[in-house]
Amino acid sequence: MSKDTVTITDNSTGKSIECPIKRGTHGPPVIDCQALPKELGMFTFDPAFMTTASCESTITFVDGEQGILLYRGYPIDQLAEKSSYLEVCYLLLYGELPTSEQMDNFNASIRQHTLLNEGLQRFYSGFRDSAHPMAMLVGVVGALSSYYYDAMDIKNPEHRSKSALRLVAKMPTIAANSYKYLMGHPYVYPRNDLGYVENFMHMMFAVPTEPYQFNETAIKALETVLILHADHEQNASTSTVRLAGSSQAHPFSCVAGGIATLWGPAHGGANEAVIRMLKEIEHPKNIPHYINKFKDKDSYQRLMGFGHRVYKNYDPRAKIIRKICHQLLEELDAEKQPLFEIAMELERIALSDDYFIERKLYPNVDFYSGTILSALGIPLNMFTVMFAVARTVGWVAQWMEMMNEPVVRIGRPRQLYTGAALRDYTPMEERSA
Ligand code: SDX
Repeated sequence: MSKDTVTITDNSTGKSIECPIKRGTHGPPVIDCQALPKELGMFTFDPAFMTTASCESTITFVDGEQGILLYRGYPIDQLAEKSSYLEVCYLLLYGELPTSEQMDNFNASIRQHTLLNEGLQRFYSGFRDSAHPMAMLVGVVGALSSYYYDAMDIKNPEHRSKSALRLVAKMPTIAANSYKYLMGHPYVYPRNDLGYVENFMHMMFAVPTEPYQFNETAIKALETVLILHADHEQNASTSTVRLAGSSQAHPFSCVAGGIATLWGPAHGGANEAVIRMLKEIEHPKNIPHYINKFKDKDSYQRLMGFGHRVYKNYDPRAKIIRKICHQLLEELDAEKQPLFEIAMELERIALSDDYFIERKLYPNVDFYSGTILSALGIPLNMFTVMFAVARTVGWVAQWMEMMNEPVVRIGRPRQLYTGAALRDYTPMEERSA
């Protein structure tokens, strides 16, 4: 019996199978169970994929117990402090930090694709002016394939790379346009003389009536938020993108699926849900009442911004973003912002409450990102849009990694069927209620 296998024995038949153990660079080894159906006539059972490794990846590593997050081996705190979002995009897409020349070329490639076809601009006017911008993002991104079909052969690596660049380049423009449409303001075209984040802020907040005043602290804060949200292993939205991509769907359609998944309040929609929760709490004196509600299963209310499927200690991104949050609110003299005061009091109480401690429910990145986005003047319904802009590069990098595999098989989870046993059709007249 090799030390690099796990023996699984079906005690009802006495049959055993040796499953290979696969070991990675970091993190727990995995049991390769692919031979189970053939050898033992069984599937594994793992609802919500709590313990399933769906793929092999070289992009991001998360250690939930140690609170570690690495992008291509680099610790997130070093990247947040020393890198730029566009440099992190290059790292996630191509695996290494760029040289100066590579960064200049990448920058130039991105700038070539920031404009949207004018026909796509007309899509926005089809939405009601009360539409949620995430609905617009799903619609417009899904429609990209009806405009940019000159690189639709996903078996062609050059086409894949061009579509990837288009998505990373156009997402800020698409996001900013959704905001401008809701505000009833004219769209602001991208400018090639601005950096990626400056350009995004300019498209969001510039108006034709006066020059836009850039705020370096605000830009650094948004840059950090984007870096922290760029990728996160096989989370729900990334898994959606990979599963859609495994059917050979075009990356625009795959990313539209990822955006739809991210919108959920249990996932990327949490940053918006956190602020709505803080507004509902309204005053620190109401916190004990709400804490009891969050513990009560029947209330169906959870403490938004707390807990994580993987981080069972502090989310390393939360540590970084909490510091940026303080700096920004101090700079903008908004320390006494009521919502932030409630957030800090909620954090203090939750971190000392046994219910949350026992369940290892600590603040996650979304608990603070909403406060920063608020302070940046970004409206509540645009919070998850910011997350989607940041995560686009992660979705695209993971999709490219999968599509670069020598063999791409369509994802097809199995099930445990517990429905009706085989039976014959009965004519209507023979049926009884
Ligand atoms: C993101 O996967 C990723 O990487 C995601 C993400 C990324 O970068 O892509 O990190 C981004 O999605 C962050 C998470 C944002 N979501 C929220 O803040 C929403 C609130 N949190 C949860 O709904 C919840 O914590 C999850 C969904 C994040 C994680 O849920 P789990 O790990 O599946 O935990 P669970 O649902 O099995 O709950 C375990 C226990 C339960 O109680 P018991 O049945 O054991 O008594 O903890 C309780 C839950 O009721 N619980 C909470 C809670 N989260 C879990 N109770 C109150 N408040 C909470 N927030």
